[in-house]
Amino acid sequence: MAFCSPTNAKLNNICIASSLAALNANGGARSRRRGTSAVQMAASDIARRGARSLPEYEEGPLERPRWAGETPLSRLVGALISFQPIYSILKLGAREVLISTAEKTNIPWREMTREMLESEVYKEMDSILNPSIIYPDYYLKPFHAYDEGNLSWLAAAEAEAATMSMVRRAIPEASSLDEANEIVRGNWLQAIEQHHQQYSRDSTMRDILDVGCSVGVSTRFLANKFHSAKVTGLDLSPYFLAVAQFKEKDGAARDKSISWIHANGENTGLPSQSFDLVSISYVLHECPATATVNLVREAFRLLRPGGTIAITDNSPKSKILQELSPVLFTLMKSTEPFLDEYYLLDLEGVMREAGFINVQTLLTDPRHRTVTGTVPH
Ligand SMILES: C[S@@+](CC[C@H](N)C(=O)[O-])C[C@H]1O[C@@H](n2cnc3c(N)ncnc32)[C@H](O)[C@@H]1O
Repeated sequence: MAFCSPTNAKLNNICIASSLAALNANGGARSRRRGTSAVQMAASDIARRGARSLPEYEEGPLERPRWAGETPLSRLVGALISFQPIYSILKLGAREVLISTAEKTNIPWREMTREMLESEVYKEMDSILNPSIIYPDYYLKPFHAYDEGNLSWLAAAEAEAATMSMVRRAIPEASSLDEANEIVRGNWLQAIEQHHQQYSRDSTMRDILDVGCSVGVSTRFLANKFHSAKVTGLDLSPYFLAVAQFKEKDGAARDKSISWIHANGENTGLPSQSFDLVSISYVLHECPATATVNLVREAFRLLRPGGTIAITDNSPKSKILQELSPVLFTLMKSTEPFLDEYYLLDLEGVMREAGFINVQTLLTDPRHRTVTGTVPH
């Protein structure tokens, strides 16, 4: 597929056509249509959830999965992936597995994607794009089985279905997406609220930044939970932000509208001490360690004294992730080039080094941890 430059309208048309072609090439299976407004409804139900103690999830016996880091198993998988013909097959396999697993759990991946690609989402690009942005090198590599990484309309159109699927995978026994979101997103929000109430002297959240907001799913959850706050979603992909802005226009009105910013979370250019919460959800496993260190330092600069950082992502200690089958983790590693770096990094240490205190880690669902910290007063 051609590189989809957001500034070139002619190229964009080619990209849109090729995105639709790629989607159609995935086969004909169609799932029951499920309006995305259901996700928004679930988000407001979760926001209303009262305080309760968080459930405890089981940790595995290791510090991190055996397939991550410098183990023989990890090196074997790494060698397989670095062999181009095998990588190409794995990449396609990973994509097939993602789509078919999603559709088996009633997430109409292909239908949602087609609907977005056929919408007027493209019109949002002009107001979102920051033409002076310089993308870090890691962001320009193939990623998630997309040759252009996150810089394409196809990746943007598929992102919400991929997010739903991640949540369903975390709670396979849930009977619906809403039920799975109640655990995954509900526990994450509750961990943030508890941390902030415990350690911030003024627990009011006035300004929230969602770094790596993608198509805005986490941003909307935050806005619904902390509805008196001004919420900003920031991402490096103008395509994802265009979808976020388009969907938000479509949704229910809010007291305070969400702002979307196209910037690098490592160096946002936003004023120091201007947020009470910086949330970074499901971003770090997609980043090299150097970017993670920069993201954490930048969050420290952006937060007011007493402000909270909340990072949620895969937990190296998750029993389920430690027991993942070889086929699944090989497929996963083939589309996520920085997983090893993510699992090897001492995230809590990086946070303390940046200046955060009260650094705490909770398994907020069977696969994910939420790590919180405070900027000293
Ligand atoms: C898996 S998505 C996040 C999903 C979303 N936060 C949620 O919880 O549903 C990861 C996002 O991080 C963004 N990202 C990666 N590196 C970034 C950086 N340095 N600055 C801003 N965004 C970044 C990607 O563009 C992508 O949209």
